[in-house]
Amino acid sequence: MNIEDLIKIDRKRDEPLYMQVYLQIKGMVEKGIIKEGAKLPTIRKLSKSLGVNSVTIVNAYHMLEEKGLAYSIVGSGTYIGADGFRLDLSSDGELEPAENTYIPAGDEYINFASSNPSHELFPVEEFKGIFAEVLDRDGGLAFTYQESMGYRPLRESLARLLSEEGIKVNSRNILVISGAQQGLDIISKVLIEQGDNVLVERPTYAGAIAVFKSRGASISEVPLTEDGINIPYLEELLKKQSIRMLYVMPEFQNPTGICYSDEVKKEILRLSKEYRFFIVEDDFTSDIYYENRPSSFLSCGHSDNVIFIKSFSKVFMPGLRLAFMVLPDMLLDSIQAAKYTSDIATSGFFQRVLQLFLDKGLWRKHTEMLRAVYRARRDLMAECLNQMRDTGIMFNVPDGGLNFWLTLPEGFKDKQIYDEAIKEKVIVAPGSFFYLDSPEQKHLRLGFASTDEEEIKNGLKVIRKILTVSENKNFSHSEPLL
Ligand SMILES: Cc1ncc(COP(=O)(O)O)c(C=O)c1O
Repeated sequence: MNIEDLIKIDRKRDEPLYMQVYLQIKGMVEKGIIKEGAKLPTIRKLSKSLGVNSVTIVNAYHMLEEKGLAYSIVGSGTYIGADGFRLDLSSDGELEPAENTYIPAGDEYINFASSNPSHELFPVEEFKGIFAEVLDRDGGLAFTYQESMGYRPLRESLARLLSEEGIKVNSRNILVISGAQQGLDIISKVLIEQGDNVLVERPTYAGAIAVFKSRGASISEVPLTEDGINIPYLEELLKKQSIRMLYVMPEFQNPTGICYSDEVKKEILRLSKEYRFFIVEDDFTSDIYYENRPSSFLSCGHSDNVIFIKSFSKVFMPGLRLAFMVLPDMLLDSIQAAKYTSDIATSGFFQRVLQLFLDKGLWRKHTEMLRAVYRARRDLMAECLNQMRDTGIMFNVPDGGLNFWLTLPEGFKDKQIYDEAIKEKVIVAPGSFFYLDSPEQKHLRLGFASTDEEEIKNGLKVIRKILTVSENKNFSHSEPLL
């Protein structure tokens, strides 16, 4: 039977019609009548079959999304599923994670898949004051077009911020961008032509792979070791083909959490000069360190082929869409032009707000607070996972960043755990999403940024149960559990 045949509207009841539709679909999801991933009828079809206005269905679907019971894919439809980390079909039909897609949060899910910060930790009060200060100071000027390179005082503050971290750069080399993702996009527009060879870590951030693919790059993976990419492997690749760009995350790499040693960074720099390729360093979380701040390629001495991107999304507020790049002189003009054609300039108002936030010393206070909160969560997750070692899981406790990279016991597959966990309202990130080719299926990325302490304990109990119950039931682990 179709979903539309199961919904009944009663106009005599006080309950609004959209609420009736919402509650009935919710009930069917809870009873398992509608399964995870099922596509809901189109708005037109359901409104026609129920004889209600299409706005009624729009409101009902919207409510399902708000409660984390459904998500929509533009141009495709509305699907039953959890928030925060949904499986999305990329243009070439492969599954890829949409970890940064906005899907309203549903309280009932424990979300280990996201590595986005908890919004309760956003410095909203401080921002209110700064908003007012910027408006009083600059008035309408704050809303005019900004220079493409960015608001000059912010660029100077960013150069000072870096110098406090031991990185000397000239503010003229700083370009403010609307998120690191835009940075990757505009660099790729300038540097990558169809068929150019680009190297990425294995595993890596899927959002970067998507950008490089969109430029027609030929992408190869370089395996990671405990202190950075495998240098002999890299060197072999360099001998065989000319490489345009190497994309790396040397600070708490996503998803593995590893940091590059200085030796590995120096070797990469040496090779980049010998074989003439650009190093794109994506620093998305170096401020969240629990021992020592990891160092950047920029602090390993002068280099004119390193492009450094720093995102404020994981440590600050992703919705601000603010990040910056440090560019070598030779790329300044071309990348500035690409930024201009992309969005002219990043919001001048938010740039002014960030500049005051930095100059008032609030950034430092904020990141200190975040480190304290996340360290407590990391410690708790480490403690709970340590107690699960008898299941055969393996992991390193990360020295920074917002997630654990777990290796599953022999015979378990990441997507099986994902499927089992989501039934218990726990979302994990299957490790296979972070590979380009032949994905390893034995890892999970477990993030603690969007969870509180209770959720960490309860969510891990669910994972433990899946690992032990499945074992006792003697599942054939090479087959899907479902
Ligand atoms: C490694 C990495 N780089 C870049 C980004 C994109 O960051 P932004 O929000 O600044 O565009 C993300 C977001 O998840 C990320 O994980």
